[in-house]
Amino acid sequence: MACLLGKKISVTGGTGTLALECGKALLEHGLSGLALLDINPAPTFSAFQDEFPDRKIVVHRCDVTSAADLERVMKTVEQELGSIDILCCFAGVVGCVPSLSMTPEEWRRTLDINTTGAFLSAQAAGRVMRERGNGGSIVFIASMSAHRVNFPQPQAAYNASKAALLHLSHSLAAEWAVYGIRVNTISPGYMDTILNEGAGLEKARRIWQERTPMGRMGAPQELTGPLVLMCSRFAGAYVTGTDLVVDGTFVLAGSGSIKTDYYPFCFAGGQTVF
Ligand SMILES: NC(=O)c1ccc[n+]([C@@H]2O[C@H](COP(=O)([O-])OP(=O)(O)OC[C@H]3O[C@@H](n4cnc5c(N)ncnc54)[C@H](O)[C@@H]3O)[C@@H](O)[C@H]2O)c1
Repeated sequence: MACLLGKKISVTGGTGTLALECGKALLEHGLSGLALLDINPAPTFSAFQDEFPDRKIVVHRCDVTSAADLERVMKTVEQELGSIDILCCFAGVVGCVPSLSMTPEEWRRTLDINTTGAFLSAQAAGRVMRERGNGGSIVFIASMSAHRVNFPQPQAAYNASKAALLHLSHSLAAEWAVYGIRVNTISPGYMDTILNEGAGLEKARRIWQERTPMGRMGAPQELTGPLVLMCSRFAGAYVTGTDLVVDGTFVLAGSGSIKTDYYPFCFAGGQTVF
């Protein structure tokens, strides 16, 4: 299925685990140009270029909290790739901080990157799409945490930042339909990424798996099908303002109660758990 044939895409948080997996899948589905935008641009993309030598792949350092950075980078990408037809916003951070001791800076950082960063990215790419007049597709990576409060990990800022993305996408979908720009979200459940690995996380992983009716975390590749659908001008042509939950039924059925002896564990070292 080459439903993305000739399309050009920008991906924020583009060198993160899920973004790279999705970038590869989009290339496999015919994407002709890929721009990975990240505050920490890593050299990993060169593997893509070897695998897809006929595609244009670029990487730029970009901070999604900076409107100026985004404006500049989107214009550069438009010149390099020839257009921007799709934007996928993966840039995100999470922190486990009890709300009573959270500083205003910690709160603002999460909202700045996850929510404001997604809005500014959409605005910068949306301007390019409107000018070119060919429509486009924008996908925000939200989370199951936009639907349910993860417990016991204390992550109020993350949960709020992701819930806001759902309504942001509804609002932009309505506002930008006139330009042919579709705006959707994907809400992953617990994904088996490097962030959710490590010696200290076995207990948490067991809990997450027990609370997910499918009995396991998701593999990063399992996000790629939904993303291709939302990016595709053909398969996803009438899909806008929609959220696709990819979570092994965690949100619908898995957020039950939990033994309290697990609770202290989740505060250990302020570690990042989704
Ligand atoms: N991994 C999961 O289980 C899971 C579950 C639900 C939702 N998500 C969401 O999926 C997205 C990707 O997650 P991931 O697991 O691949 O994490 P990741 O840490 O591998 O990727 C996030 C990327 O965002 C980048 N980033 C952070 N701040 C930035 C900024 N200011 N400007 C530009 N880039 C910035 C990071 O450098 C990183 O490359 C995140 O938004 C996350 O909230 C992940």
